[in-house]
Amino acid sequence: MIPSRVTLVDVGPRDGLQNEKQPVATADKVALVHRLQAAGLREIEVTSYVSPKWVPQMSDNAQVMAAIARPPGVRHSVLVPNMLGLDAALAGGAATRPDEVVVFGAASQAFSRRNINCSIEESIDRFAPVVAAAREAGLKVRAAISCALGCPYQGEVSPDEVEHLVKLMKGIGVQHCGIADTIGTGTPRGAQAVMERALKHFPVDEVSGHFHDTYGQALANILASLEVGIHTFDTSVAGLGGCPYAKGATGNVATEDVVFMLHGMGIDTGIDLDALVDAGGFISDVLGRPPVSRAGRALLTKKGRVFA
Ligand code: HMG
Ligand code: MG
Repeated sequence: MIPSRVTLVDVGPRDGLQNEKQPVATADKVALVHRLQAAGLREIEVTSYVSPKWVPQMSDNAQVMAAIARPPGVRHSVLVPNMLGLDAALAGGAATRPDEVVVFGAASQAFSRRNINCSIEESIDRFAPVVAAAREAGLKVRAAISCALGCPYQGEVSPDEVEHLVKLMKGIGVQHCGIADTIGTGTPRGAQAVMERALKHFPVDEVSGHFHDTYGQALANILASLEVGIHTFDTSVAGLGGCPYAKGATGNVATEDVVFMLHGMGIDTGIDLDALVDAGGFISDVLGRPPVSRAGRALLTKKGRVFA
């Protein structure tokens, strides 16, 4: 049965903005997080503690974490690729402490090397102490399984390769497994196949889908995932983003489009679509381009906005 309630994790401030070439002011990142919170998002991926040489846009991670309001009931996550990242995420104490950290591995060796500069096996050796220390510090740990439905360097990725990494992540104590279609080439039956592999190792409450919309398949993949019971998805306001190490990969599926679909199906998200659309309009104005979100553009147009 299709879930009656779905949790959306807005990853726009991290996955979206990490790919922006133009500098985005810390104050604008903070304002975006606040608008998402006001729109009813209860899970937000705020930033990443990665090397500033690799992803300069996220180098204000601690400032963003220090400046955001932390209302009760809202959970904030950050990416950490290694101990240095976790230590930095914890360095500011309670004021900047995330609720959850994300370790990110890839189902393909080639992407692992390009994105985090090590093999899959080395990444697990690197993540193991991070997961242990994060859990010891009382943080929840999520794993992102990149390239679960295709790799920009290897091409096809098999469900066996995905399940292999899922099992390795489970083995080091990760509590949640996010299945990511990094380059958006997945289609619905494939999405169901990898979700079913993840569900062999994690309970349904601890599996989520993260679909980039490069080939326009993300909504279909979400619907297919709902059909196998998945009820948590990463989405990105205004459809922001892409991964700097997956050339040509566009943003995550837009939060507005997913909310529009789910509400139309009678599925509760707790999100105020009108306020969300305004959040998408806000960050698009900051970036100087219209939202990628189709629903966002349509609803902003109805409010009188004109897009070129
Ligand atoms: P490396 O060069 O192999 O690391 O990079 P290293 O340990 O040899 O360190 C090299 C330098 O980086 C040193 O500085 C370290 O201090 C520094 P130097 O001595 O040269 O001045 N360094 C750090 N600085 C700050 N924070 C850190 C950190 N670690 C090392 N945490 C590393 C390895 C993993 C660090 C690098 O490859 C990296 O940062 N990669 C991140 C790439 C990234 O952020 N990609 C995008 C996010 S993943 C994504 O978008 C996919 C996802 O959305 C799911 C999907 O769609 O698939 C999650
Ligand atoms: Mg991503």
